[in-house]
Amino acid sequence: MEIQKIGVIGAGQMGNGIAHVLAMAGYNVLLNDISQEALDKGLDTVRKNMERQVSREKMTQEDMDSALARISPTLTLTDLGQTDLVIEAATEKEAVKTAIFQELVPHLQEHTILTSNTSSISITRLASGTDRPERFMGFHFMNPVPVMQLVELIRGIATDKPTYDACLQVVEKLGKTAASAEDFPAFIVNRILMPMINEAVYTLYEGVGTVKSIDQSMKLGANHPMGPLELADFIGLDTCLAIMNVLHDGLADTKYRPCPLLTKYVEAGWLGRKTGRGFYDYRRDEPVPTR
Ligand code: CAA
Repeated sequence: MEIQKIGVIGAGQMGNGIAHVLAMAGYNVLLNDISQEALDKGLDTVRKNMERQVSREKMTQEDMDSALARISPTLTLTDLGQTDLVIEAATEKEAVKTAIFQELVPHLQEHTILTSNTSSISITRLASGTDRPERFMGFHFMNPVPVMQLVELIRGIATDKPTYDACLQVVEKLGKTAASAEDFPAFIVNRILMPMINEAVYTLYEGVGTVKSIDQSMKLGANHPMGPLELADFIGLDTCLAIMNVLHDGLADTKYRPCPLLTKYVEAGWLGRKTGRGFYDYRRDEPVPTR
């Protein structure tokens, strides 16, 4: 089966990036969110990121115009029933994702593949609440989607081979690289990345380093493009905490204990870049460490 039309649920940080790369690769995209404001904001981000690519001569104005024309926004979730593949990129909360699938599933075509961009929730559990566990899998992009080369493909216990192969073909058409991960908490990237970020927060909590010295150490000492605290702000501290909780609960090992300082930042609503404050304060021109 050739995938031509793809539905993307959620026009936020991940969803708009996914719509961007799919449209650029020639797919017709139906982009869904719950408010017109969220859709407008998502499409605006896609336009700005494409404009940047045009100005850097990574794509032509003509390609940008035709890619944008391939993205159709919709407030009606059930419109996505007409697509060949659905990628859910809504909020990282299991109850939200489950409710979306429950509403959508009765409207899907028989052949439609259902996937989730979840960064850590069990694919097998999400699939079991649908009518098609064999045509359900994890399709996990990295942030920022237009820049990052990797997509994790996660098979649930019931996912069949044609479903996996069809998703792999999409990844290849995007010019990205797939890594196949088994369905265990947080898969591969976040299983390794989040404990490192959590350890950086412990390093700050215990006073071993400051925000600046910790980030500088990992940038200059380990050649990471961003320091771990800067990266945590970029991902969102609520997401980082949610993933640590999935690891802690799912693997029952104290080495995944979320740092109390990470919890405190989330309780304060200091969630990183998206709220203007996290380990750095972004409300002025230059980010200033908050500790
Ligand atoms: N959207 C689209 N394009 C973007 C972008 C965005 N948000 N941010 C940067 N870019 C593009 C720029 O246009 C530029 O493109 P060209 O090379 O074509 O000119 C390129 O990325 C580099 O950007 P900059 O020169 O402005 O900035 P930089 O060199 O500092 O790189 C970065 C920015 C690519 C984000 C880099 O800092 C980086 O790789 N950081 C680490 C990102 C990372 O680890 N992501 C994974 C997070 S974990 C995850 O996503 C999994 C999860 O489930 C939580």
